[in-house]
Amino acid sequence: MGKPVRVLMIASEVGSFARTGGLGDMVEGLARGLAAAAVEVVVVTPLYGFGVTSVPPDTKRWPFPLRIDRAPKCQLEVVETGVAAGSGSVRVMLLDIPHLYDRKGIYGDEHGLFGDNQIRFAALCRGALAIGDHLWSESDGARTIVHAHDWHSALAPLYARSRPSGAMRASKQLFSIHNLAYQGRFDLHDAAALGLSAEVASGQVVHDGRINFMKSAIVAADRVSTVSATYAREILETANGCGLEHAIASRGDSVAGIENGIDLDLYDPSHDSALAVNYNASNALPQRALCKRALAAEVGLDTQDDGPLFATVSRLTWQKGIDSVIDIAPQIVATGGRILFVGGGDASLSEAILRLVEQYPGRVVGSTEFDDALARRAYAGADFVLMPSRYEPCGLTQQYAMRYGAVPIVTPVGGLLDTVMPYDPGSASGTGIVAASHAPHHLIDACRIAFDLYRDRTAMAGIIARAMARDNSWARSTQEYLALYEQMLSA
Ligand code: GLC
Repeated sequence: MGKPVRVLMIASEVGSFARTGGLGDMVEGLARGLAAAAVEVVVVTPLYGFGVTSVPPDTKRWPFPLRIDRAPKCQLEVVETGVAAGSGSVRVMLLDIPHLYDRKGIYGDEHGLFGDNQIRFAALCRGALAIGDHLWSESDGARTIVHAHDWHSALAPLYARSRPSGAMRASKQLFSIHNLAYQGRFDLHDAAALGLSAEVASGQVVHDGRINFMKSAIVAADRVSTVSATYAREILETANGCGLEHAIASRGDSVAGIENGIDLDLYDPSHDSALAVNYNASNALPQRALCKRALAAEVGLDTQDDGPLFATVSRLTWQKGIDSVIDIAPQIVATGGRILFVGGGDASLSEAILRLVEQYPGRVVGSTEFDDALARRAYAGADFVLMPSRYEPCGLTQQYAMRYGAVPIVTPVGGLLDTVMPYDPGSASGTGIVAASHAPHHLIDACRIAFDLYRDRTAMAGIIARAMARDNSWARSTQEYLALYEQMLSA
């Protein structure tokens, strides 16, 4: 091994600062995992106009503005802060470009997606590379990995290549796909503003007649990865490749699948202050019963008879198969179950959930806004967490559920297949129930197994114990990323 690796991580979401979903958790979790393994890691993300980005007191504002090349008007300042990681810490550089980022949303607001997202995220890439060049010398560059995540940072590999000199030109680029369905597609007329005229002319960044950020990284990065081994295979198929399957296949076996971990400090039922009572594997059964009772009182669930509580903690999108849960809700209720929905998203799904809540008072309850504390109480108090995704690159919810002792009910796709071991009553093994598909009739079959399991106290105690014992830590995945970085640097 040569000199230490250093990593410049670029992402539109970083958990402690701004997040809409798993991407932010993953980026922060990996960055902290790397820092805890003594790797120098710098994360670059925008300073948005909401949330925790009311900048913490220990921040430094870089005294000089950097100019983002080829993008006039973009005079940027960098606010430096950090997040702790074991005995070390992660440096976080917040790009302060008010006219691009000082808004009440990451990708859009109540009026829809922002119309200038291509410029906003191209500026993120350029800004991040400018920071890398500023921090490190050209010779450091040879040991630097630029790790870009999803379409928002997908122009970084191309931009790094086209730099005249400096650390970033000498770096190696890893591009991680978290969700192939969101590709960043824009009009060809944007080519000049994005500094991509030549790449558009050559077709390198074009797909189906549009500029495609995701495709540009898939072809330009030194390596491409995604967040589970199964999703790495699935995206080669037409059904899951979202039109980019050929571009991905052309990378051959250089698309790695590395499963996400979860942050075991931030998600720990023995310390989580959001819970009514804390617990660990040894007292989970009685304490979780208390959590369930407190949750029922909080959200207004019936407690007259004893029945299983099913929860969904999810963005309300087509991907997540929430429509199937809505479909089978009457059957779950008729069988003696209760349902708690946590999470917001598509208006039509929210409305359908609110109709169920009205129709089944005390039996179906829900908050159609995401509420982190309620989500944690759902993991601690629900018996089962439903996650019937149509596709799932990795999925963190099922991992949080298992960590808190709620049994996940999942579909056999992507990271769900890789992280949940199917329950087998015969051999008393498994950590969750795997439905045959997201189709309502398959989901109700899986729920029948859940009802039986719920009535069998020994079996239920067994699956909870196995789910809680699963190793979800970032430590293992961090080592896999480090091995991949080393391969890239020695290639
Ligand atoms: C996206 C994917 C999800 C994954 C997360 C973090 O949100 O949909 O499956 O867990 O990114 O990688």
